[in-house]
Amino acid sequence: MIKNKFRVITSSFAALAVAAGTLVIADEHGPLHEAMEKVNKVNNAINKAVRTPVAYKKDAKAVTENSKELVKLAKVTVDGVAEAKKVKGVKGDPEAQWKTLAADFLKTSEELAKVAEKEDHAATKNAHQAVKKSCSGCHEVFRVEDEK
Ligand code: HEC
Repeated sequence: MIKNKFRVITSSFAALAVAAGTLVIADEHGPLHEAMEKVNKVNNAINKAVRTPVAYKKDAKAVTENSKELVKLAKVTVDGVAEAKKVKGVKGDPEAQWKTLAADFLKTSEELAKVAEKEDHAATKNAHQAVKKSCSGCHEVFRVEDEK
């Protein structure tokens, strides 16, 4: 009973958010959504590890691994164009924009993976900043609320 009530509340809240135009959901269970959940986890782990030189020293190897994972996920994102076309409220041509934005995500991730192998904190942090810019660049057009 309580559980049911909760569901009603959350679903009407989601509807409200969509109506307000602040939230855009593609396919809740689609490969893009799944990829984004993983992207978020990997990105958060990198965030934490590059925050300070001390943290980085401990986790440099993990950053390299996570960056490689991010490259794989960026490739899934590039392939998510069909789902991206279902996103509502996008100004302009969704397909063309997706191609550009996803390609930028892939390029910056590949650069990060390359730089991370050298285990230089400042350079890795910089390369990661470029990746994060590509996240928000895409979310701006496809209107996903950024979690960072
Ligand atoms: C090319 C476009 C694009 C790029 C680049 C991109 N995203 Fe997304 N992201 C989306 C879209 C579209 C959604 C909404 C799809 C969905 O979750 O159903 C989304 C959803 C999300 C969500 C919400 C997922 C959830 O659990 O509801 C998070 C978190 C997220 N992205 C994080 C990131 C991070 C972090 C990066 C960069 C490392 C990134 N995204 C890069 C397009 C992109």
